[in-house]
Amino acid sequence: MPHIDMPTTMPAPGVVQDALGIARHAPSVWNRQPWQWRFDTKGLHLYADPERMSGVRDPLGRLTILSCGVALHHGLVALLGQSWDGAVQRFPRGISDTLVATVRLAPRYMTSPRDMAMFLAIEQRRTETRPLAAPAHDHAVFAALRATAENHGVGITILDDRGAYLVAPSARLPVRTERLGHWGMDPDYSAIAVLTTHHDTPRDWLRAGEALSEALLVATSHGLATCPVVDLPDRAGIASEAQRCARGPGPGSGAGNHAQAVLRIGVRRYPALPRTNRRAVQDLLQCR
Ligand SMILES: Cc1cc2nc3c(=O)[nH]c(=O)nc-3n(C[C@H](O)[C@H](O)[C@H](O)COP(=O)(O)O)c2cc1C
Repeated sequence: MPHIDMPTTMPAPGVVQDALGIARHAPSVWNRQPWQWRFDTKGLHLYADPERMSGVRDPLGRLTILSCGVALHHGLVALLGQSWDGAVQRFPRGISDTLVATVRLAPRYMTSPRDMAMFLAIEQRRTETRPLAAPAHDHAVFAALRATAENHGVGITILDDRGAYLVAPSARLPVRTERLGHWGMDPDYSAIAVLTTHHDTPRDWLRAGEALSEALLVATSHGLATCPVVDLPDRAGIASEAQRCARGPGPGSGAGNHAQAVLRIGVRRYPALPRTNRRAVQDLLQCR
């Protein structure tokens, strides 16, 4: 009889290390990576690490938790790429605890082409702060982004031109600058997506981070460049512009009252930037 290795219900620590070695490329506010993973017999746990945000104005912890949401989603995608499925419990000890999520893992026998495309996009994605050309085939991408946001209970609205002009200065975006006139390079025609939630609790921030991560990977898998912005001085004004656009005929999945992130999406005009540094996996994961 040939020997068949049956999968156990928990991955070996090496599998988790490999997955998080890929997921560590998750973007975060100012690349602070304010999180810590722990792996034990109960599963994989993600903790917020606000100390890594020192010097960043984040009085409520919103930027920290948003970044943790991005890390969580990248972790799940990387585990799927290693054929492990994660069931997530968010804030299992309540929203004021640093334990942001616990992930229970189970083997997954089939990885879908979409999962694989997202997995590969982790490697390809970079934040692109330079001007972008308008996305081609935007309807397909926007439909994919809408589906993404709905997965997480988050609104995503692509602003129309008027919205883009209004939001760009308040989100400090270098867009539509041929009219704003202080960007010395090519004009920028990126699409601007606004992620909104109906409430503004740590749970909403976490889901918005997960949705942002998925939107980044979806856009990357469509060959597009992206730049997330969350340091938004006028969140209410941006949300109301998203709501106006969501009511119109353009693409949008309904917008909430709370803007969580703005995302520039477009076609890269310059060679891709080199990858930015990350912590080693040994620094961000403890196995027990
Ligand atoms: C939630 C979030 C918010 C961000 N906000 C900003 C921002 O306000 N301004 C900016 O220039 N970059 C912003 N970034 C991009 C990060 O600075 C960038 O992800 C990080 O430096 C790592 O670089 P990489 O994305 O190329 O890997 C943000 C990224 C994330 C995930």
